[in-house]
Order: sequence, then C-alpha cells, then structure tokens
Amino acid sequence: MKTILITGASGAMGSAAVRKLAGDGHTVWMACRNLEKGESIRQQILQDEPEADIRLKALDLSSFASVKTFAAELKADGVQLDALFNNAGTMNRHYSETADGIERTWQVNFLSPCLLTRLLLPMMAPDAHIVSMVSLSAHYARLDAAFPLSDKKHFTQLGTYAQSKLALLLYTLELSRRVPQYVNMSDPWIVNTPIIHLDRWFDPIADLFFRPVCYKPEKGVQPALRALFTEERGKYFVGKSIRDYLPKYGKRYDLQDVWTRIEAFLAMQAPLEQL
Ligand SMILES: NC(=O)c1ccc[n+]([C@@H]2O[C@H](COP(=O)([O-])OP(=O)(O)OC[C@H]3O[C@@H](n4cnc5c(N)ncnc54)[C@H](OP(=O)(O)O)[C@@H]3O)[C@@H](O)[C@H]2O)c1
Repeated sequence: MKTILITGASGAMGSAAVRKLAGDGHTVWMACRNLEKGESIRQQILQDEPEADIRLKALDLSSFASVKTFAAELKADGVQLDALFNNAGTMNRHYSETADGIERTWQVNFLSPCLLTRLLLPMMAPDAHIVSMVSLSAHYARLDAAFPLSDKKHFTQLGTYAQSKLALLLYTLELSRRVPQYVNMSDPWIVNTPIIHLDRWFDPIADLFFRPVCYKPEKGVQPALRALFTEERGKYFVGKSIRDYLPKYGKRYDLQDVWTRIEAFLAMQAPLEQL
C-alpha cells in the first residue's frame, strides 16, 4: 500500500480521490488550506471507511511560507511519499496579489505546486508518482514575456487560469525528463465542481443547463487516479486516453529555457538541489 499526498483534498475532485484511495487501503495525506473543512470531509469518509488511514495537514498554496513549513514538517516527521497529486487550483475573478506579491491564481496553480514538488522530491522514492492537475484550457493559452511571473496588464479570469495550467504543464513535462519518478499530468475535462463558478451574471443559467452535462467529480478524477499508478512518464491523461504532448510543446517552447526560468525563481524561495 502507498502513502499518497493530495493537495486541495477538501475540494470536489480532491475529496473524491481521497475517498477512493483511502478506501482502497492507501495512506492518504490530505493537504488543505481550510482544516475545518478538511476534517469534516475526513470524518465523512471515515464513517464509510472506518479502517481508512487519512491524515490532515494545513497547506495554503497562496503562501510560499506555508509551502515551506508544510514540507519541512513532513520531513521532520520522517514521512516518505509514494505519490504526490498536485490537485489544488483556483480561478480568481479579479486581480489580487498574495502576501508574496504574486497574482493569486498564478501562485496557487503554478508556482506553489512547483515549489512544493521540489521540496517533497527528496522524500520520494525513485519509483514514486507525481501527477499535476492541468486543464484543457492550457491548450488555448500562450506564455507571455513576464514568465515565470504573470503579467498584471493582461490579467483575465480565464486567460490567467489557462496560462497557469499551461505553465504547470510545461514544468511537469520537463520535470518528467529530469527525475526518475513517474511524472505525469491529468486533465479531468469539464467537471461539475465549485471552481467552474465564474462569479458572473450567467452563473445561475450555467448551473441550470451546463452543470448537469458536466462530468461528476468521481469521473473527472479518474485520469489522475490512473496516472498515480502508471508506468508512463511525461504523459497527459485525459478520459481513457494517454497522450504525448512533448512533440507539440517541445516545438512551441524551449522547455530547457522554461525550466531554467522557473527554477531560478523557485531557488529564490528555498535552497534547491539542482536537477
Ligand atoms: N472542474 C473542472 O471542470 C476542472 C477542469 C480542469 C481542471 N480542473 C482542476 O481540477 C483541480 C480540482 O478542482 P475542482 O474542480 O475539484 O474544484 P474545487 O472543488 O474548487 O477544488 C479546488 C481545491 O483547491 C483548493 N485550493 C484553492 N485555493 C487554495 C490555496 N490557496 N491553497 C490550498 N488549496 C487551495 C480548494 O480548497 P477549499 O476546499 O478550501 O476551497 C479546493 O480544495 C483544480 O486544479 C482545477 O483547476 C478542474
């Protein structure tokens, strides 16, 4: 049985993953920004699965300090991870900056998951799994000159979200070429969860007509669950298929350069072993 860490474990797909994996007998670490919400979900799952081994820990991805504290405490506790599922995500309606001075969606969806992954890597065996939750929106985005930061002038709710997922996708692709672990991406398609609420006038109409045709969280998380046990590397899990996007994105971007820029930024947040 494996020890699996899930970020955004109190969310719709995160909690569906916790339920499935803990129910299958794995030890699951729920990383949640809201411990009360996380504990309530943990208790609900334990009611159905009394033998489940589910642990809960605070992680706020809008803060690099929180990411560093989280990783340091796991290390101090001697935790060894078999898998990391970078699932947490956000899509902010308006431009706002975190305490680190970074646009919020950008930090939560991209920079913090990269930092977290780098800090947890030493706690992972060579045959461990890492899965990044990306999005089909990434395929419609382009990086801009501000990269590895986001450009305040060009902030839009959906555009910055899509860019953050593209940035995570590119980082994950390059990471998969640099470490022995099984590093992959998952795309849940369009899923009926809180994140698709856009804070717009048309939300009630979308709730009525669009949500019912979206996937349920249990279905949306399936590709990620497969990626957590795969022997593939650098692949994109969507629906029942496994795609290779290295040719496409390797042609469109200089992945080495993308990697170097991200790593230079991350190295300013914490000392990192070079990969
Ligand atoms: N739903 C879709 O159609 C869709 C499509 C493509 C990709 N995705 C991706 O799937 C992942 C899961 O989303 P979901 O659809 O299950 O939506 P969700 O229910 O809103 O889950 C998002 C999770 O991320 C957590 N989160 C947000 N900000 C955070 C922060 N600062 N620090 C730590 N955790 C934070 C949320 O915490 P709280 O529980 O405290 O709110 C929640 O647990 C996200 O990465 C999303 O971008 C979703």
